[in-house]
Amino acid sequence: MDFMDISKKRVTVRKFAPKPVEEDKINRILEAGRWSPTAVNKQPQRILVLNTPESLAKVREFCSFGYDQKYVDLAKECDDKEQGKVNFYYGAPLVLFVAYDRTECWTHPQSGKSSGATDATIVATHMMLEAASLDLGSVWISYFDEDKARKLLKLPEDWQSVCMLYIGYPAEDFVPNTHLGGHRKPLSETCFYNAVLEEGSEK
Ligand SMILES: Cc1cc2nc3c(=O)[nH]c(=O)nc-3n(C[C@H](O)[C@H](O)[C@H](O)COP(=O)(O)O)c2cc1C
Repeated sequence: MDFMDISKKRVTVRKFAPKPVEEDKINRILEAGRWSPTAVNKQPQRILVLNTPESLAKVREFCSFGYDQKYVDLAKECDDKEQGKVNFYYGAPLVLFVAYDRTECWTHPQSGKSSGATDATIVATHMMLEAASLDLGSVWISYFDEDKARKLLKLPEDWQSVCMLYIGYPAEDFVPNTHLGGHRKPLSETCFYNAVLEEGSEK
């Protein structure tokens, strides 16, 4: 499949079919992440594959928030609500928990910034696009309780979490491009050729 086709085919899926993701597809997704570029090729990314009922039950724990109106609004169309909680879980059969090892990153000598979050984000993006090429749906999850995740998953001290990818076959009644999706700004608002500010402009 042409890369542009994969790029456009990937849309956020927030309702998954109760069907496991095959092992060979999981391996291909992990392999796509493995070949990502990382700063100085340090490969600080750490991916925790969660696909057993026990592991997924933990995800349900740390992706849940109290039944506050602001969370309910976020979850309006696609989420499950139960017992005074909103679960941002979406029935995913496979969750890739993406982190990086703080001790293995490159540090920018001028700014002192670690490359870890950028590296892990690139890896997650590769994996997401590979999932799309395998006809799997996915959603990028930033919104979860990181402290709870650390405890429940017993993460090593040096791991810094970045995001989760929920991956699976879209549910039969899944509707794409709901809740913020679909629309893209025109290139003229986000891309600039050779200069951004007018010549002589102070700001
Ligand atoms: C960095 C990042 C964080 C995101 N966090 C969440 C999240 O916590 N929960 C969620 O349901 N979607 C999350 N999303 C999905 C975005 O809302 C979605 O990609 C965006 O609305 C565009 O829709 P599309 O992916 O269907 O094109 C996140 C996406 C990115 C890139």
